[in-house]
Amino acid sequence: EKSIYILGIESSCDDTSAAVICNGKVLSNVIANQEVHAQYGGVVPELASRAHQQNIVPVVQQALHQANITKNDLSAIAFTKGPGLMGSLLVGTSFAKSLALGLQIPLIDVNHMQAHILAHFIDNETPKPPFPFICLTISGGHTQIVKITDYFSMEILGETIDDAVGEAFDKSAKILGLPYPGGPLIDKYAQLGNPKAFPFSKPQVADLNFSFSGLKTAILYFLQKEQQKNQNFISENLNDICASIQFTIIEILMDKLKKAVKQTGIKHIAIAGGVSANSEIRKSLQNAEKHLGWKTYIPKFEYTTDNAAMIAITGYLKFLNNNYADISTAVKARLKV
Ligand code: KG4
Ligand code: ZN
Repeated sequence: EKSIYILGIESSCDDTSAAVICNGKVLSNVIANQEVHAQYGGVVPELASRAHQQNIVPVVQQALHQANITKNDLSAIAFTKGPGLMGSLLVGTSFAKSLALGLQIPLIDVNHMQAHILAHFIDNETPKPPFPFICLTISGGHTQIVKITDYFSMEILGETIDDAVGEAFDKSAKILGLPYPGGPLIDKYAQLGNPKAFPFSKPQVADLNFSFSGLKTAILYFLQKEQQKNQNFISENLNDICASIQFTIIEILMDKLKKAVKQTGIKHIAIAGGVSANSEIRKSLQNAEKHLGWKTYIPKFEYTTDNAAMIAITGYLKFLNNNYADISTAVKARLKV
């Protein structure tokens, strides 16, 4: 049996990543994080493109090196076509095209949001969900409940009408004076706090859709009011505030997932995307498995936030179907699953 080596390249936001997958197994998954954005409280697109430009070649070289192969062993190159930041996408896409052209091997375009979901199909890792399953995809740019009937047959059942969950975490963190990205920090402080300390009301949104912009405003007003009474309110209550914010967000997500299960009758439930790294959403799913009879699929930690292994596995699944991209393919900042 011939070994199929796929190089995956991810550059949609602020992480430059390259990975090599052999017959569905990850051989390497190198990620260069861009620290430059922390001081600005969010990703600065112009700076992200420049950092990708600096990182892309060394990151790919390292991925090949760690996989113990050379570029001549590659069967195809998969890259993120979108959605994402235009300038960031262009760096990975142009590099992938040039390399595929030079090596005379197929080029495969990958939808970043599909890839977050298809990370569940990396070999020898966590159990693979059977079709059909429901995936709650939660990242810095998206919040979706998706029904997956086959690898490339996906339907969005609900999504956010304003901010994404990751944004809700990051913007709340910013109000608390925490650096970007604040999601992981809220998670960390929340573990030491009381989730019922400060109740925040949940939004009323129809169907399987979400809204998070009201919560952000509610948190802002609450903190302003408390700080007028006590200047040190945030520092004295940081753990409880973080736990309360996180508790509210996770409840909003779980309520909609329960609704999706009821509506579809599907009890195979996966999570994906950067926010699926959150310890509380992971616990909540495990609880649902025990108490609600769901079968849940939680990605390995390193495949939750942006990474190229998920791009490479999606590329591999497309490669098996001879589903290649034309060399003239263009990036798309907006792209549906
Ligand atoms: O999927 P991702 O790496 O990038 C996008 O495609 O957006 O997701 C990044 C988001 C950020 O908003 C970050 O704060 C959030 O995922 N995040 C977390 C945690 N780890 C990452 N949010 C809450 N708890 C975490 N542990
Ligand atoms: Zn992502």
